[in-house]
Amino acid sequence: MNKNQFYDRPISVSDGVFWTGAYESGAALQCNPYIVTASGQAVLIDGGSRSDFAAVMMKILQAEVDPKQIVALIYQHADPDLCGSLSNIVDICQNDSLKVFSNKGDTEFLKYYIHRERAHLIESIDTHDFQYTFGGRTLQFHSTPYAHSSGGYITHDLQTGTLFTSDLFGSFSFGAFSQEWELFLELPEACFSCTDYQDCKAGKLICPVLNILNFHKKVMPCGRALKNAMSVVRRLSPKMIAPQHGSIIAHQRDIVFLIDRLERLENVGVDGIPMCNEVDE
Ligand SMILES: [Fe+2]
Ligand SMILES: [Fe+2]
Repeated sequence: MNKNQFYDRPISVSDGVFWTGAYESGAALQCNPYIVTASGQAVLIDGGSRSDFAAVMMKILQAEVDPKQIVALIYQHADPDLCGSLSNIVDICQNDSLKVFSNKGDTEFLKYYIHRERAHLIESIDTHDFQYTFGGRTLQFHSTPYAHSSGGYITHDLQTGTLFTSDLFGSFSFGAFSQEWELFLELPEACFSCTDYQDCKAGKLICPVLNILNFHKKVMPCGRALKNAMSVVRRLSPKMIAPQHGSIIAHQRDIVFLIDRLERLENVGVDGIPMCNEVDE
């Protein structure tokens, strides 16, 4: 199947949840916004970059969601790859009571994406007791500080057990990754006993586990933050991981395996670089 055709439509992820991303062959990062629907209302999670705005909005319409039905926008941190189109989305929603959720560590940064007169729409999740209910569906928010942003958090859909993890569980998609990228990742049996990431026994061009680990080494600030985030995820026992980059992980065995690998990952972020006083003059 031609990937561009397949990913040209919104894709059902779990009950009432749709992937609304833009697939771009060869892009370094595959970005994954999601829309969650309930009783004629909808919430958009990590809406995407300015350049993806048209494609994301087209998919929202194809998922039969009128932008006026969107009651909240959730931004799990303040990077441009998920917040770049914030201003455009607010304009198109035409909803005076629209809520824009952030965690307090990122709220001030989020304001730089939006016109000053609309900054009052941004609310911190702690003022909502870390949850939001719309159309009878409840989303719970869990802080994952410094993983990777100071105000980072993840969102748990109680109805389906889907956990929206933003950059956590993400991976790269440039080069060979892009050729093999699929929205749903299922780890081959060989991954569970593999000891050599450079020689994929399942015949992949590049090891999908290594890709995920390398992404976290690069994007997360340190091992302590990542370990803390993994214990938050483990406690929630999610049925599905829906990250903002890379692929959705829907199999329990894969989720448990990746939590374990990420929790034990070394040389994450600043942990992996020499201190300036350790570098030879
Ligand atoms: Fe990020
Ligand atoms: Fe990101």
